[in-house]
Amino acid sequence: MIDRAAFHKLSCGLYIIGSKTGERFVGCVANTVLQVTSKPFQLSVTLNKENATTKAVQESGRFTASVVDEAMCMETIGRFGFHSSTELDKFGEVAHALDACEVPYLEQDCSAWFSCRVVGSMDVGTHVVFVGEVEESGVLSGPHPMTYSFYHLVKGGKTPPRASSYTGEGTSSDVAADNAAGAKVAEEDGLKHAWRCTICGHIEYVDELPENFSCPVCGVGPECFERIEL
Ligand SMILES: Cc1cc2nc3c(=O)[nH]c(=O)nc-3n(C[C@H](O)[C@H](O)[C@H](O)COP(=O)(O)O)c2cc1C
Repeated sequence: MIDRAAFHKLSCGLYIIGSKTGERFVGCVANTVLQVTSKPFQLSVTLNKENATTKAVQESGRFTASVVDEAMCMETIGRFGFHSSTELDKFGEVAHALDACEVPYLEQDCSAWFSCRVVGSMDVGTHVVFVGEVEESGVLSGPHPMTYSFYHLVKGGKTPPRASSYTGEGTSSDVAADNAAGAKVAEEDGLKHAWRCTICGHIEYVDELPENFSCPVCGVGPECFERIEL
């Protein structure tokens, strides 16, 4: 038998992976960065084949990993973890720096950064495991690297379906399909407005959001929702 709860006991951190495709910067959140060896220094990261970042890493042979600090806000995590780089310039409005190969990495609210050249990869079905040799790294000002457990327990964050660690914790695998289904019911009920999560795009079809409401997809509170007319 597989007890899904056992997977929640695995410890890991939270990282922003950066890469580029041509001149375009892309990136995503990952909780799957690990140090593989120290002679040479190598890191691995496991990325979903559907991610724009995965294709960019395959094309460019390069990625950066920034260690997320506990101070990072949910808006930034949501920007990188719940949107696709194909529809959003994720680094556009976020302070970032470039490594020697001009691949972007986040500095603000991060504890350290690494720049890697891909030296190997393994197809593991839904995901690809990339191994990168570290060519540059540095310590940043964030004193407390965010653990995955902190993200869940303190920040109230959720795991989207494309993450390697997704175990089906009650979130939908398709926000757009869920929104469409909700819209149909709202129309039948004559609802005039609804609330859209500015972090992940989920739409809650109710008149008012309760004070203690949390987004069923990404976990943020009512303050991150905007009212939309239907
Ligand atoms: C907490 C968290 C952890 C995640 N971990 C991973 C991961 O390890 N690997 C992965 O491929 N996606 C992971 N994701 C999902 C990607 O960040 C997400 O699918 C992102 O929108 C992909 O963006 P892209 O298409 O621009 O690359 C995670 C997301 C969150 C919020």
